[in-house]
Amino acid sequence: MQNGSGKRLYIQEVAPRDGFQNEKQFIETDEKIALVDRLSGCGYAKIEVTSFTSPKAIPALRDAEEVMSRIRRNPAVIYTVLVPNVRGAERAAACDVDEVNLVMSVSETHNRSNMRMTREQSFSQLSEIIRMLRGGRTRVNVSLSTAFGCPMEGDIDEAFMFDLMDRFAEQGIASLTLCDTTGMAYPSQVSSIATRARQRFGGLELTMHFHNTRGMALANTLVSLEAGIDRFDASLGGLGGCPYAPGASGNVCTEELVHMLDLMGYDTGVSMEGILSAGALLPGLIGHDTPSQIQKAGLRSKRHPVLSF
Ligand code: COA
Ligand code: ZN
Repeated sequence: MQNGSGKRLYIQEVAPRDGFQNEKQFIETDEKIALVDRLSGCGYAKIEVTSFTSPKAIPALRDAEEVMSRIRRNPAVIYTVLVPNVRGAERAAACDVDEVNLVMSVSETHNRSNMRMTREQSFSQLSEIIRMLRGGRTRVNVSLSTAFGCPMEGDIDEAFMFDLMDRFAEQGIASLTLCDTTGMAYPSQVSSIATRARQRFGGLELTMHFHNTRGMALANTLVSLEAGIDRFDASLGGLGGCPYAPGASGNVCTEELVHMLDLMGYDTGVSMEGILSAGALLPGLIGHDTPSQIQKAGLRSKRHPVLSF
């Protein structure tokens, strides 16, 4: 019943950024560094380490410089950071990051509340960063938030989104992520958008970033695979969420995603044992349980003793 046939997929861990940005309790810098170092040995293609945002907007990640400069880098992993503006890109460049993950929202309302800029102001900041970094060693990824719906506006204008993708692609970016910020994406919608994006931007590395707010993240992953998408953001323990998107909750859970893809015969490169043991540490770091079903249930291969009355 395996249909992945060993196809290589790329899993990008976002718990240190998307996960930790949404935690009420501040996670100590040394603990963040220890977690990233541990994740560096788990086989991820990319790890989003932190964000270079305003410490007033995202106090949980106010130690970005220290975390980024003290982690032990594995040359096989791309270390990326979220950046909202030129100031953030300058801070990231000073830490010699491998990639800046430039973020803006497809929804004007969400962009204004999350970035305190209009979409056009964000676009011009991000374009300036792309110009700044052109020809250098730092990769650029553009992440578009609320790509499948906005919790304030509802449906987004798909024509506007594809036009925005065109405008970034024209500037020569190599990779782009479509983010389902609050779990509004559903499979037929994802299938349609992913198929069109794949056809229109053949040369771009495309990532899908799903949140499991309404339980559809794995279903959305499956239809993305059918549309030819091979890169997925995921968060250890299913942590995550944007503090400026009402009702936001965790990303697709890395343990659940890798468990499913392993069973289907895909090659994720990620060590299931590695992420299970790393994920088991999270409740101790964040002070509460995680939504991971796999941490609760164990792997499908787990065998139980016979129960009797
Ligand atoms: N890093 C650190 N400080 C920054 C900064 C950055 N990237 N950008 C701006 N600042 C500082 C300025 O230096 C200024 O400091 P001062 O008050 O000491 O002079 C202050 O913040 C205000 O600057 P301004 O340009 O007016 O920014 P803002 O307050 O309008 O905030 C953003 C704009 C984009 C920086 C902020 O909204 C933000 O960080 N948003 C990110 C939200 C996020 O990460 N959401 C979750 C992920 S989707
Ligand atoms: Zn997210």
